Amino acid sequence: MEGGSITIEPGCSLRGEVMVPGDKSISHRALLFGAIAEGTTTIHGLLTAADPCSTADCLRAMGVNISPLGTKDQPVVVEGVGLDGLQEPEDVLNCGNSGTTMRLLMGLLAGCRGRHFFLTGDASLRQRPMARVSRPLCRSMGANISGRDNGNLAPLAVNGCQLRGGTIGTSVASAQVKSALLLAGLMANGSVSVIEPIRSRDHSERMLKAFGADLQVTGDHGRHVRLNPGQPLQGQEIVVPGDISSAAFWLVGAAITPGSRLRLLQVGLNPTRTGVLEVLQTMGAQVQVERQRQIVGEPVGDLLVRHGPLGPFSIGPELVPRLVDEIPILAVAALFAQGTSQISGAGELRVKETDRLAVMTRQLKAMGAVVEETADGLVIQGPQKLQGAQLDSEADHRVAMSLALAALNAHGPSPIDGADAAGVSYPGFWQQLQQLGSN
Ligand code: S3P
Repeated sequence: MEGGSITIEPGCSLRGEVMVPGDKSISHRALLFGAIAEGTTTIHGLLTAADPCSTADCLRAMGVNISPLGTKDQPVVVEGVGLDGLQEPEDVLNCGNSGTTMRLLMGLLAGCRGRHFFLTGDASLRQRPMARVSRPLCRSMGANISGRDNGNLAPLAVNGCQLRGGTIGTSVASAQVKSALLLAGLMANGSVSVIEPIRSRDHSERMLKAFGADLQVTGDHGRHVRLNPGQPLQGQEIVVPGDISSAAFWLVGAAITPGSRLRLLQVGLNPTRTGVLEVLQTMGAQVQVERQRQIVGEPVGDLLVRHGPLGPFSIGPELVPRLVDEIPILAVAALFAQGTSQISGAGELRVKETDRLAVMTRQLKAMGAVVEETADGLVIQGPQKLQGAQLDSEADHRVAMSLALAALNAHGPSPIDGADAAGVSYPGFWQQLQQLGSN
């Protein structure tokens, strides 16, 4: 890779076994919950990518001892400082590109009485909406958070204070929002109930319970979560499963690339995350789940995927939270399916690391694709023939990896600028692609 650019030459199939990197959502939470627990938390298989590194660095700046993240196969050890043990940092906390770091920290720090925190991030993160967290924290729980655009844009200032409990209906189905409110609830003087419009991923609920928090999930489809404060968290031994959002690139890559056959090992199969498998099943993709098992509170399994004929799919608002990060690669899948695929109710993609609906449309069009961008989704008629073209990730990790699999199935080579963005969630992606392609 030179200057962050990499050229994809089409024509190979993808074959072999892949151990996808650890789940990003679970990795952030393991670090954060470990930091405020009592005692030691040992994390096996933590994702050592840029985003979790941002979380670890912020926690270190507040006095938490965390062993280096870079050493492969070595567990990461977090020495917890207890619920109210985070120190006021000497400098601004830099969350990098990571929305999860910033939003979860907002909840965690809002209740650290008498301490002041400043949060910032890269150019992308400073444009992303934070009012979805700061508003309920301030209005319903009495937090003191300010920032540009009325507390909506970073840099943000969090003045820790005594929080109160309450019942909060969230306006978006977002695990980041829900988790921030639950973390704030740990420090509140009464119970916090969070009610979501549609249930989002539930890693926080599972892990908080495992750490000993007093938490109940009720309501239809688990949309209602109640946390009672006062229970200290206890350090745990955690095994992070492979990230299904990273596995999705190989699932779609193998499904659309002739001659491909991949086995993906120990992939997280939490039902709040498996929307991509349901879509692939609807498409008639050859995906088999093997060796389903439970690893420290999270379901996992191996996935065997082969190339084959594909039909179209339809994704509506109810399904979006269960595959929100997989929509860019599913847009690529739609180009190789026989028929018209529709994605709607996905307006949230416009406030991710980039406006992913616009960026995917723009980049796929550069390859000659016909993609209709709607206000909250995409309409794609397949199958289409793609031409190799000059592409750009626009600094978005999931766009970079989605374009790689599209380019592998185009006619002619495609240089992808900003390929290094993949390191935000998938270090070693390009080497893995090269290896699977040469098998
Ligand atoms: C995440 C939740 C999702 C997802 C993001 C990680 C999390 O965001 O897109 O990559 O770890 O809680 P939203 O909560 O904004 O939907």
